[in-house]
Parts: sequence; structure tokens; C-alpha cells
Amino acid sequence: LKWILVVGARPNFMKIAPLIRAISAHNEKNGNRIQPFLVHTGQHYDVRMSDAFFRDLQLPEPDVHLGVGSGNHGEQTGKVLIEFEKILLQEQPDLVIVVGDVNSTLACSLAAAKLHIPVAHVEAGLRSFDRAMPEEINRIVTDAISDYLFTPSPDGDEHLLGEGIPKEKIFLVGDIMIDSLLFNLEQAKKTQILASLGLVDMPYALVTLHRPANVDDREIFGRILEGLSDVAKKIPVIFPMHPRTRKQVNTFGLDEAFLFHSALPIDSAEYGNNEGRIPKIHCFEPLGYLDFLQLMSHAKVVLTDSGGIQEETTVLNIPCITLRDSTERPITVTEGTNVLVHDDPQKIVAEVSKILEGRIRQGKCPAIWDGHTAERIVAVLC
Ligand code: UD1
Repeated sequence: LKWILVVGARPNFMKIAPLIRAISAHNEKNGNRIQPFLVHTGQHYDVRMSDAFFRDLQLPEPDVHLGVGSGNHGEQTGKVLIEFEKILLQEQPDLVIVVGDVNSTLACSLAAAKLHIPVAHVEAGLRSFDRAMPEEINRIVTDAISDYLFTPSPDGDEHLLGEGIPKEKIFLVGDIMIDSLLFNLEQAKKTQILASLGLVDMPYALVTLHRPANVDDREIFGRILEGLSDVAKKIPVIFPMHPRTRKQVNTFGLDEAFLFHSALPIDSAEYGNNEGRIPKIHCFEPLGYLDFLQLMSHAKVVLTDSGGIQEETTVLNIPCITLRDSTERPITVTEGTNVLVHDDPQKIVAEVSKILEGRIRQGKCPAIWDGHTAERIVAVLC
């Protein structure tokens, strides 16, 4: 059986790594029954957005790299569609596995479905009900044309059933990102990131921000920044910055709010020398998987507009403040540590203050997020 696994952008890598491990384990018992074939679309291409994750997650070299790069949605999706179809025709796989909700997910599932090749979608059924998010369109279309829909939580099953997807196609298997998190937690502790950022024994807030709805709109970006700058008066704010966000900081001339650290290590005194000046937000280049996991595990609070980080903080029981007005992962709010504040500066500061005063909500991790999602997926597919 030849199975093509697709990665394209940063949040895909930690979702594919556990599947590759589960396939190897299956093959060991069953005489190499499954031949995995890894395709990297090249949607993300910087060392820090891609190669670092291959290294940290011990992913094998891709069998094929499509090298599509950045572009507008139509251009990027179209390029993947054209190039991936060629691979499908050449390789004639028995199955295509796509993960998440990025443009590569949509393009590759579409190419496969049109060639009548079965598609498995891992992380199916998530809905923010906000169609202004490009990911929401990607999720809806991918789910509609997939043959196996693997959901992380029961709300996913409900959404899919509500959209008329037959019950036989839906499998509640848990959250595959958490397989990677639990697998790598010990390894992350061995990194030097806390020492090299001068954060050993230093409480800090960790920020990620990159959604187009937040950073491509000057007013919204400005409001979030106002909130984060106020937070920086209370606690050091650590911000590994996504390339899209970095570009927008330049475009909008917002550099003033930040202190950009290009060389590491830095001394912890750098966080305390704000006397008489407006404290800055401390920015770094994007981090690898293990470094970020370690930084997240030790944060006092995480502020983010990422999807996956809402889930990871829930599992780590670290307070999460989500800088969005909707989430496709509501279980992190109802059961986990997550709270939605979007771009209201006052709310951002109020939520951080609560946490600093020790008023912390204890989260509960969904039982099925147990680190064995990939094994359940391989069992279904076999
Ligand atoms: C994509 C995903 C988003 C995911 C995010 C994680 C879609 C629609 N969006 O958004 O769901 O949360 O990845 O990072 O698929 N760039 C670089 N180097 C890179 C990649 C991108 O500099 O390796 C810059 C380019 O200027 C590019 C911009 O970042 O134009 C945006 O990249 P793109 O892949 O279009 O979307 P993301 O914002 O990364």
C-alpha cells in the first residue's frame, strides 16, 4: 500500500511526525505493508519555518519537494494543485493523508479527490464559523471531499454530521498535535532556550501573533499591540515573530513598540532595564518545535492567535489568552485554560492581571488527547 503524506506549512509538521512513527510501528509487525511517501509542498520554506521542524521532530527527508513558496491564495493553492496532481499520476498512491487547514491541505485533497484517490483528513470537523478566515474555507472544502474524517473532539463529529457527512466516514481519534507534544516533552527540557533567552527563574508572558485578520489590519494590530505593551509594564513579554507579522510591523511602522533581539544569548538584566522608559516587547526570530515547547511549558501566560497553541496550553495547563473573537477549538475554552479576548486592550490586560494575581482557572485535558491518536488512525486505515 502506498500512502502519500502531505506537509506544507509550519503547523503541519508536528501532525505528520506521529503518523510516520505509527506507520513504522505497524510495518514492523506487518512486514512493511505500508509504503509511506512524504510530499512537502514548500508553502513554508524558511529554515526557521520548516527545516528546524524536520530536525526537531526527526522527520525523514521528503520524497518530493514541490517548492511552491508564498503567493496570494489562488496562486499558492493553484500551484500546489498543479504540482501535486503530477505526483499523484506518477506515484499512483492508494491513499492521500492531509492534516490541518492550510492552503496545501485544500489543494492536495482536491487534486486527489478529482483522481478518485481516497483522502484521509486528520483534524477534521473543526469550525470557527468565521468564513473570513482562509482556514475555515479550507476546512469545509477538505472535509466535504475526504473519505476518512479523523476528528480531535466530539464537536468535530457534530459539525460533520450536521453538514451531511455520513457517520461511517467519521472517526473520533483525538488530537494528533498532542501526540507530538507528549512524545517530545522530555526532549524539550534538554534545550538551552530558557538560559539563552535569560529566562531561567524569570516569569514571562509568551506571545504569538500572525493571523491576517489581526496583523494585516493596522487598527486591529494597533489595538492588540496597545494591550501587549501594557502587559509588558507588568511582566516581560517574549514574542518569537512570524515572518508575516515582521513584514507588517515594517509596513505599518510599528517598530517602536519592540526590542528586536537578533543575537543570542541575552542577559536577564535586559528585561529589567525599562526604568523610566516605556517597556518594550522582546522579539525574536521564529523558534523551532522543541525550543517553543519548552518556552510554552514555563510561561506564566501565553497570548496567541494560533489554533494549535490553544490546544497545547490546555494540555500543559498553562493559561491561554486567545487574541481572536472565535475559535474552532471550543473545547479549550469549555474544558481547558483558554479565554477569548480578541483585540480589546483592556480585556487583554485584565486577563493577564488575573493570572498574575494567582486567579488561575484549572484546565482539564480531554481524555482522548492521550498521545495515541496516530495509532488509532493507522488502525482505522488498515
Ligand atoms: C499559513 C496558514 C495558517 C497557519 C500559518 C502558520 C494558510 C491559508 N495559512 O499562514 O493557517 O496558521 O501558515 O505559520 O495556509 N513567509 C516567509 N517564510 C516562510 C513562509 C512564509 O517569509 O517560510 C512569509 C511570506 O512573506 C508570506 C507570508 O509569510 O507571504 C505568509 O505565508 P503564507 O504561507 O501565505 O501564510 P501564513 O501566514 O504563514
